[in-house]
Amino acid sequence: MKRSLTSVATAMTLLVAGTHSVLGAEPLSVLHWWTSGGESKAIRVLKDDMNKQGYQWKDFAVAGGAGAAAMTALKTQVISGNAPSAAQVKGPLIQDWASQGVLVNIDQSATDWKAHSPAQIDNTMKANGHYVAAPFSVHRINWLWINKADLDKVGGTPPTTWPEFFALADKFRAAGITAVAHGGQPWQDMTIWETVVLSQGPDFYRKALVDLDQKTLTSPQMVQVFETVQKIRTYFDKGYHGRDWNLATAMVISGSGGMQFMGDWAKGEFANANRKSDVDYVCAAAPGTSNAFTYTVDAFVFFQQNGKKEATPGQLALARTIMSPDFQQQFSLYKGSIPIRLDVPMDKFDDCAKKSRTDELATIKSGGFLPSLAFGELHSSATAGAITDAVTNFMNSNEDPEEGVRKLAAAAKVK
Ligand code: GAL
Repeated sequence: MKRSLTSVATAMTLLVAGTHSVLGAEPLSVLHWWTSGGESKAIRVLKDDMNKQGYQWKDFAVAGGAGAAAMTALKTQVISGNAPSAAQVKGPLIQDWASQGVLVNIDQSATDWKAHSPAQIDNTMKANGHYVAAPFSVHRINWLWINKADLDKVGGTPPTTWPEFFALADKFRAAGITAVAHGGQPWQDMTIWETVVLSQGPDFYRKALVDLDQKTLTSPQMVQVFETVQKIRTYFDKGYHGRDWNLATAMVISGSGGMQFMGDWAKGEFANANRKSDVDYVCAAAPGTSNAFTYTVDAFVFFQQNGKKEATPGQLALARTIMSPDFQQQFSLYKGSIPIRLDVPMDKFDDCAKKSRTDELATIKSGGFLPSLAFGELHSSATAGAITDAVTNFMNSNEDPEEGVRKLAAAAKVK
């Protein structure tokens, strides 16, 4: 009896949703940069869910890892009066867009978000005390991905210090394996550099990259960071320039590459290729960073449509769906991340995700849970862009580490 009532209720809901769509529920135009195998699979979950609710999904996927091209496309759309219903935006850019007066308030969809999210993340979804962004998941940046067969072949273990890391890299090199699979694009260069900064300790990272403290930025420890990065570079293959991140991950999947520094969307690629953690690959905190967690949180912001200041029913439904427990689970299973919501059970997740959740909670307590500069979680685009230029110039030239540090310190002053 109970079951038949439920199915009647479900049928009615579908009918209502169906009618809604027949009557023309608004189409949802959505701008994002999720185009790799794992990323597309993850965003398709949302598209299918919205379709089921009667909304048509108009996809504006702008290729380019980390979203630089997508952010340029978004500006063009908004300036030309074609703002999408929703767009992938994160970090301080959320408040920037809100201050332009072009976003809508989605408080109605967010009634239980605060109770179930880490406060540090929940706060960044708001502008002037109101929710304007819906968060998808937590990605950890300071990971090292290692091909398991390669590791066994050279008789190695996951490195926990830089000397161990370089010893393993030498073994890979001797075995004819590209030790570090890397894509030479500015944001990927930043990923490595930022992770080496983190290996000097969470306090050093905070002073250097959150506070932009000049004394820390010009310290001998920072010179060491540049030296380490310079040494890591000698383990790239010849074809690294301009390579997309997922192609570098594909090298570690196939075993032609031994290791990759990358956020855990790389795990979405391993999963998409049916590779299992601990069997086919190993996820380890990057050397010297096991007590820290650099994070990025993807989110959608919602733009005013047709000159109306209020969110449309479709935008409210989209925001609600993104933070619904079922969606949070399925999305992260495909994406390689962990749910924002702390009430989503972790039993369906692999060991890497479980470790990520344990480390997230531990570092929130210890102060080691830190926003990633490389992924737009810190500072204005001007400051972050200047630092990225300094780092990427260093990585692609023969500049000495002292000069790298000088340029970094100058870049940190750019407002
Ligand atoms: C990051 C984003 C991830 C992933 C990555 C590579 O900025 O947070 O979700 O998409 O770019 O494209």
